[in-house]
Amino acid sequence: MSYAEHRALVVGAAGLDLTVRPRSVAVEPARSNPGLIRWGWGGVARNIAENLARLSVEVRLITAVGDDWCGRMLLSQLRDVGINTDACIVTNEHPTGSHVALSHFDEQPWVAFDDMAVIREITPGHLYRLRGLVRDADIVCIDANLSARTLQTLFRLTSEYDTPVCADPTTALLAHRLHPHLPQILAITPDLAEAEALVGQKLQDDEDIGAAARRLVQSGVDLAIITLGIAGLYYATSGESGRIPPFPVEVVDVTGAGDALTAAVAYGLIEGMSPEETVRLGTAAAAQTIACHETVCPDLSPELLYERLVI
Ligand SMILES: Nc1ncnc2c1ncn2[C@@H]1O[C@H](COP(=O)(O)OP(=O)(O)OP(=O)(O)O)[C@@H](O)[C@H]1O
Ligand SMILES: [Mg+2]
Repeated sequence: MSYAEHRALVVGAAGLDLTVRPRSVAVEPARSNPGLIRWGWGGVARNIAENLARLSVEVRLITAVGDDWCGRMLLSQLRDVGINTDACIVTNEHPTGSHVALSHFDEQPWVAFDDMAVIREITPGHLYRLRGLVRDADIVCIDANLSARTLQTLFRLTSEYDTPVCADPTTALLAHRLHPHLPQILAITPDLAEAEALVGQKLQDDEDIGAAARRLVQSGVDLAIITLGIAGLYYATSGESGRIPPFPVEVVDVTGAGDALTAAVAYGLIEGMSPEETVRLGTAAAAQTIACHETVCPDLSPELLYERLVI
């Protein structure tokens, strides 16, 4: 990370991720059960920012954290990986964001809770004051935790300065916030549930998925990528479309695969790669993340991704 050819501005959520897994199948209600409890840093924007920093991009993150131990540790971790945190907000209004996932014994998601109220502190005024960062960035990456009015200001600024936007819809519940801005989005990376929320219908088979990706393009997105977990992804532009299978990797932990993909897609776009190459680069980053315990693979580098593409 000694020199950077590209600058990215990332805007959205950062927080603490807790995962809780019971140690045995029998879980007794109304008492404490033995469990495997792990924590790490998360938030889609934070994950994208760390992936981009590991890809040697100069990254500024706009997020909000509470004025608490967690917020201080989070900002310090971001700085340690080379992310500029000068534009981050520290507030007394809300605690640092967090996400807690409780899994079944077989590791399938069971139920999750998140508290990202602090992200409301990223106001239109804050972005307006920092508009120079939007102007100077080669790309702006966002997640959908931002409020509707903050998104509106952000997209006004990216239009004004002609800065491309790469958007991660984050969850099916939040994806709709990006809908009004599809014409101003260069690349979008919904998973299946998020794509269903964006196009407003169930996607039953490959034909539906292909049609949904093309509909996102008709709505104004340049590159629509619908990620399908172990089934890979489907992408579309106005001139081409196709299915890309995942790289065969031993699955260690799938957490963060989608965020790594979004970050590598943003990287491919600022590198001037073709849509298909960009999407393959995204798939390579997802594979690297899946083969790794951490949410963002600490070994990620442009060389490693290109190596995966060549083999
Ligand atoms: N089990 C898996 N095996 C192989 N590749 C996978 C697997 N799960 C995901 N991938 C790869 O990661 C990419 C993104 O995964 P997915 O569709 O699960 O995104 P997501 O739901 O946004 O994930 P996230 O929870 O990180 O946001 C897929 O397109 C695929 O290339
Ligand atoms: Mg995702």
